[in-house]
Amino acid sequence: MSDTFRGYLATLVPEIDAALDRVLADGEREPVRLHEAMRYSIFAGGKRLRPCLVVLAGEAFGGSRTDLLEPAAALELVHTFSLVHDDLPALDDDDLRRGRATLHRQYDEALAILAGDALLNLGLEVMATYPTGGNSAVRLANTIAVARAIGTDGMIAGQVFDLEAEGRSEEEPFADPEAALERIHRLKTGALLRVSLEVGARIAGAGARALESLGRLGDLIGLMFQVRDDILDVEGDAESLGKTPGKDARAGKLTYPGLYGIQAARRMLDDHLAEALELVDDLPQRKAEFRGLVSFIATREN
Ligand code: IPE
Ligand code: IPE
Ligand code: MG
Ligand code: MG
Ligand code: MG
Repeated sequence: MSDTFRGYLATLVPEIDAALDRVLADGEREPVRLHEAMRYSIFAGGKRLRPCLVVLAGEAFGGSRTDLLEPAAALELVHTFSLVHDDLPALDDDDLRRGRATLHRQYDEALAILAGDALLNLGLEVMATYPTGGNSAVRLANTIAVARAIGTDGMIAGQVFDLEAEGRSEEEPFADPEAALERIHRLKTGALLRVSLEVGARIAGAGARALESLGRLGDLIGLMFQVRDDILDVEGDAESLGKTPGKDARAGKLTYPGLYGIQAARRMLDDHLAEALELVDDLPQRKAEFRGLVSFIATREN
């Protein structure tokens, strides 16, 4: 990780965590188990990449951090909902997440479903509320953009395609597996990462053209993120990942290393990284931090 990005994260992550703490009800509010469970998953030590993208994109266009922190927290709430549900027995059936027992293992499945629902709802509420006193048209546009990014043309669609692809390569091979895989990754992971940049930049007043070119960077970040996630599932260990490795192959998932092999997956990652770094050069501010973030996404070990 570059020193500039490390230094940036060292001050930003505590501020994001403080914003999460402000918007979440305390763990003593009734129903106590529900509020405790929401905090259990949020404060388990995620990397906070989506909130970082919100803040960095906002600051790249001259936005103030105060205006960006709660919207950034909103993205983390939505992301954490997606992890809680992704781990459920009916989906990936995982026991370990962020170095802890998954929510349904720690509590029970019903509470994990409901706490996930609650994190999603709170995320959208926060997105529609902040920055308070700010421009309500911006809040509305951002709330709609996030709802779409996680909807039936976004993350949820990606999760459905991901599950449908499980074990399919043997029984009923895809006519175009490369396109099927890219679609899964764009939707299940890329859409939320992409919209994180959009949210921050819109709060900072970026115009339509700037949002469009950020979209291309967001697409690349999304793809790199999930290609790396697939590689780590093959190469990582449970201790550094904080989740169980080897799950994708066991479940027969359609993944980059599975389809192309690990070397080719690495080369694609390098190509995407080179293109993403070129796009970062066009940003008005925060280029060094952005470069650090983009490189981290492509090379991360957890
Ligand atoms: C993991 O996301 C889930 C995917 C979308 C592949 P992260 O790797 O960002 O998870 P946390 O937030 O750091 O736990
Ligand atoms: C998760 O993808 C995508 C979402 C949570 C929407 P994965 O299933 O690959 O994520 P991990 O590997 O369990 O974190
Ligand atoms: Mg999954
Ligand atoms: Mg999973
Ligand atoms: Mg994975």
